Amino acid sequence: MSHATQHTKVQAQAVEDYLAGLPQFHVGPLWKFLSQALTPEPQSQVRPHLWRWQELRPQLLRSGELVSAAEAERRVLMLLNPGLEGRIATTHTLYGGLQLILPGEVARTHRHTPNALRFIMEGEGAYTVVDGEKITMSPGDFVLTPNWTWHDHGSESTGPVVWLDGLDIPLIQMLEGIFFDPYAEEAQPLTKPLDGSVADYGKSGFLPTWQRATSAHSPLLKYAWKDAREAVMSLGPDAFSPFDGAMLEYVNPVTGGPSLPTMASFLQRLQPGQQTQAHRHSSSAVYLAVEGHGRTTIAAKTYEWSPGDVFALPTWAWHTHENLSASQDAMLFSFTDAPVMKFLHLYREQAM
Ligand SMILES: [Fe+2]
Ligand SMILES: [Fe+2]
Repeated sequence: MSHATQHTKVQAQAVEDYLAGLPQFHVGPLWKFLSQALTPEPQSQVRPHLWRWQELRPQLLRSGELVSAAEAERRVLMLLNPGLEGRIATTHTLYGGLQLILPGEVARTHRHTPNALRFIMEGEGAYTVVDGEKITMSPGDFVLTPNWTWHDHGSESTGPVVWLDGLDIPLIQMLEGIFFDPYAEEAQPLTKPLDGSVADYGKSGFLPTWQRATSAHSPLLKYAWKDAREAVMSLGPDAFSPFDGAMLEYVNPVTGGPSLPTMASFLQRLQPGQQTQAHRHSSSAVYLAVEGHGRTTIAAKTYEWSPGDVFALPTWAWHTHENLSASQDAMLFSFTDAPVMKFLHLYREQAM
């Protein structure tokens, strides 16, 4: 063995010993992990996934037979991303769940720092109370229960009512910002007019001058399906996007910004036969198929959807949407973490 080789071997052994000794000081060599930490683009653990309404609806109704809303606090089947095992997460920042409420039930009052949104999927006659305002809910309605607002749900219906819950739980957990507070009573007192925020803030193009809301979230707590559908159907062709079709955001009417500080929500219409061009963005999304029949291709894999199906789009994944009907419009509801990414100057979008 040459002197030089001998030296290299001694040196290598010294490095190995050195590295082996570092963990006891709770330090590590960045030079070994630099390429893992600073990747050229996001490396998401989130997997594209589609949850089938046809499969989940019976499971959800079964939960109604086995567990009461009172026992459960909230009777929800969480949509768990297969790439994020062990976490309450549909994407790395967003959580979606299917909530069931049965006739006469009350899901007790509480508040928490995660923001929540609801998109009603099935059944008339349920309601949500948010900070003293009772909000009636019908299929297609989009309802907010923002950060730290007291909320309870109830049903005056004769059948099951189901909605999609959307929350920013994984994000707030990662930020270690979770606070939760149960209310002393099951139901909170109704201190405001029924659907009052809709009366005050629900007329597009008009705002009250006397009392203008200044909260971080939208003062409008319900966006009715009829209004949303009409708006997306009447969009002119100059407002269409080749990547999203005709797409509207549910905005805070005071600021024009997202309805919740952490999540933006959208209603998207694909015309009969329409196929969008591929794009990707540094925001993840949870989609709900509301009307029609179509398919979405995410990272070269295709997911066919019908009403009630939910699918997860990881960040920075190429995707296209297609309406498979030649005669019927298709409607997708979605919520994303884009407001957070934009606020932090991390938002990027790219066309293929
Ligand atoms: Fe809640
Ligand atoms: Fe997109």
